[in-house]
Amino acid sequence: MAKYHRPDSIAPHGGELINRIATPAQKEEFLSKADFLPRVALDERAVSDLHMIAIGGFSPLTGFMNQQDYDSVVVDMHLINGLPWSIPITLSVTEEVAAPLEEGSYVRLDDSTGRYIGVLQLTEKYTYDKQKEAVNVYRTDDEKHPGVAVVYQQGNVNLAGPIWLLERDPHPLFPKYQLDPAVSRQAFLDKGWHTIVGFQTRNPVHRAHEYIQKCAMEIVDGLFLHPLVGATKEDDIPADIRMRCYEILIENYYPQDRVILGINPSAMRYAGPREAIFHALIRKNYGCTHFIVGRDHAGVGDYYGTFDAQYIFDEFDPALIGIVPLKFEHAFYCTVTNTMATVKTSPSTPEQRVHLSGTKVREMLRRGELPPPEFSRPLVAAELAKAMKVQG
Ligand code: ADX
Repeated sequence: MAKYHRPDSIAPHGGELINRIATPAQKEEFLSKADFLPRVALDERAVSDLHMIAIGGFSPLTGFMNQQDYDSVVVDMHLINGLPWSIPITLSVTEEVAAPLEEGSYVRLDDSTGRYIGVLQLTEKYTYDKQKEAVNVYRTDDEKHPGVAVVYQQGNVNLAGPIWLLERDPHPLFPKYQLDPAVSRQAFLDKGWHTIVGFQTRNPVHRAHEYIQKCAMEIVDGLFLHPLVGATKEDDIPADIRMRCYEILIENYYPQDRVILGINPSAMRYAGPREAIFHALIRKNYGCTHFIVGRDHAGVGDYYGTFDAQYIFDEFDPALIGIVPLKFEHAFYCTVTNTMATVKTSPSTPEQRVHLSGTKVREMLRRGELPPPEFSRPLVAAELAKAMKVQG
């Protein structure tokens, strides 16, 4: 009988890790055209999307979505080629900006400081229905929803086409954690890891996070702690404070050789279930084989049911998703057994559980109080308190 040969690493979404970083020759050519190309200024989210496309984090996308893919993603959560994809990746501009741009031409992409960072080969410009996008992707058209608010504020025309990234600096705050998908994949290979669980977070790691990560670590070779450091809503804890907390956590409470910390430079959408799919596909591109989805993943307010982000995986062919979701119950501190647990493992009544939300903890920190050890590891709590005091 033929022996099964396990591949060294998981295939990226669509089979190929996209690389749209301009080669030196392409860069030289695009730079020589700098003064002749029409310009479009990108906001923070568009810059991070440009980077994610270029480094392969959004494979198989090679650029901003055309209308066919956009419509299919909004309505059906698949690209035209049949691959699952749940969040539109679009470059939206105003009608005034779009009007002089000609389909078929090259457009210079600048960041907010006017620096020339990329090129779009404009294949198509199209208008779209914002309410339809909001209701389908975010399950609400309430403009108080931070993801919906972005859709309503952005321009009415989407510019589509392949991109090239010209300038790629080390991350200004976390250069040593800037592990692009090709780099994280190599790091997993170097460690000899075959199974890797990815963890998305936009919060300082608390003990419920730690508990579900460590449950997952019992069944895989390694943990890829992959905090999102792109744009988040204003009251989320800033990324530099969170990163310091992750470092302290790994140094003091984790087996260091079984964790790799890397940053996810993309922007938060707060699209709950749809974003859980998106987050999983991104981690597949980074080389993870498993992905943690806990309670109200990527949720905000009361827009989504506690486990909607887990149920949505049932709407897809698992072979096409290609990364295994590890779904966790709501974790809490159980005062009967004095451990972290969930209803699956704890004999406690609801009154015997310590549940703390991120919001409650932020309020405590602002009042100068330390989150209790049932919620945060003491060294992490001390760092958070110090950082929030400095912030005011
Ligand atoms: S998120 O917006 O990135 O999802 P957060 O950083 O709080 O927010 O969550 C990271 C991951 O941990 C998500 O998968 C989330 O579902 C999970 N999670 C957060 N808190 C809990 C909890 N108490 N119990 C189980 N899972 C949780």
